[in-house]
Amino acid sequence: MATQAKDDEPRFNFGAGMPDPKTFPSRDLAVAAARVIEREGSSLVRYPGNWGYPGLREVARERFHRNHGVEVGIDDIVLGNGSMQPINLVAAAWAKAGAPVVVEEFTYSGTLGVFRHHQVDLVSIPLDEQGMRTDALDTALQRLRQAGTPAQFIYTIASHQNPSGTTLPVERRRELLEVAAKHEVVIVEDDCYADLRYRGAEVPSIYALAEPGQVLYIGSFSKILGPGARLGYFIAPPVLRDQLLAHRSDGGTSSLAAMIVAEYLQGHMWSHIAEVKALMASKLMTLHGALDECVGDICSWTRPTGGLFQWLKLPDDVDTDQLQTLVARQGIACGSGRSFDAQDRDIAYLRLAFGYIDQADIMEGVARLGDSIRKSQTGAAGNGAEPRDAACC
Ligand SMILES: Cc1ncc(COP(=O)(O)O)c(C=O)c1O
Repeated sequence: MATQAKDDEPRFNFGAGMPDPKTFPSRDLAVAAARVIEREGSSLVRYPGNWGYPGLREVARERFHRNHGVEVGIDDIVLGNGSMQPINLVAAAWAKAGAPVVVEEFTYSGTLGVFRHHQVDLVSIPLDEQGMRTDALDTALQRLRQAGTPAQFIYTIASHQNPSGTTLPVERRRELLEVAAKHEVVIVEDDCYADLRYRGAEVPSIYALAEPGQVLYIGSFSKILGPGARLGYFIAPPVLRDQLLAHRSDGGTSSLAAMIVAEYLQGHMWSHIAEVKALMASKLMTLHGALDECVGDICSWTRPTGGLFQWLKLPDDVDTDQLQTLVARQGIACGSGRSFDAQDRDIAYLRLAFGYIDQADIMEGVARLGDSIRKSQTGAAGNGAEPRDAACC
């Protein structure tokens, strides 16, 4: 049975990359909170400071080791308010107005907003089914150097990319490191979907394959727990870490939030992640079934191996403005292609986030979406055409 939407949110919420409310461990967190506050609460009279609560940094260290097979120093891990804060610190430290910053051609809209705020010159590198094309990266970095405007840094979401869902294979990660080293450009690796792999072999992070100082790594607890916790972090050796910390002046990340989450994750991290993954994998299958049935004849997509997003190629004759109006009328939230395009082009794509929406609502949401897409087509197939299959759309 379909669930009721809250008053202030769309009924079919394919909008933001968030986990399923059913996986949020309210009771266990309440128990953890009571325990840790009783034990360590008086320490909360102090400011957290630049690095943040050590217990959660330990959790991040264990997570990195288990996911990527590499030990990192506890002083190389700095907590942030979500992973958005490290992205802001990267921009404050390295994004100079007018200077080039390299990104995937489609990338996270939040990051694009931060980089645009700093008025950088966004240089976009094409993606294929395996992620950023390293040959094109090499050409772009070469061109920038020759023009006397070398890239400030490369920002990449190499695993379960937002929005495209692509994952860079290990050989290409090595190529990326080689190309970046050749042109002496630092890589910022945003890895907030690292744990959410539903099929295929794990791939080590770029940071784990790099020489110290080549890569700054960004992680988050938002995608396995919830963005409401506002807990993320970055990992970097002192040479890079201190350049970011020079721009931090907020007193630190909430020790209260960090100690509760650390207390919970110390005993439950891997069982909790397994639970989140199982539900997400099942929802992705439901989404694919719905897409096959409702828009298989007009849209195309590649199947991600993990993450929270399905990037959907729309028919070329779709009027994207009209589509936005129609989907909103249908109670659907989803990401427009344009919001993820580094060059701000009106592209015929949509991003469907499947983490938050109730699994029981996916089929109807996609059916309504399919209906809206057909009605937004301006070619022969469109112009308000009737839905192809009444049972579905
Ligand atoms: C690639 C990427 N980076 C960073 C963020 C920000 O997440 P948070 O600040 O909640 O950790 C998001 C959120 O969707 C994201 O997709």
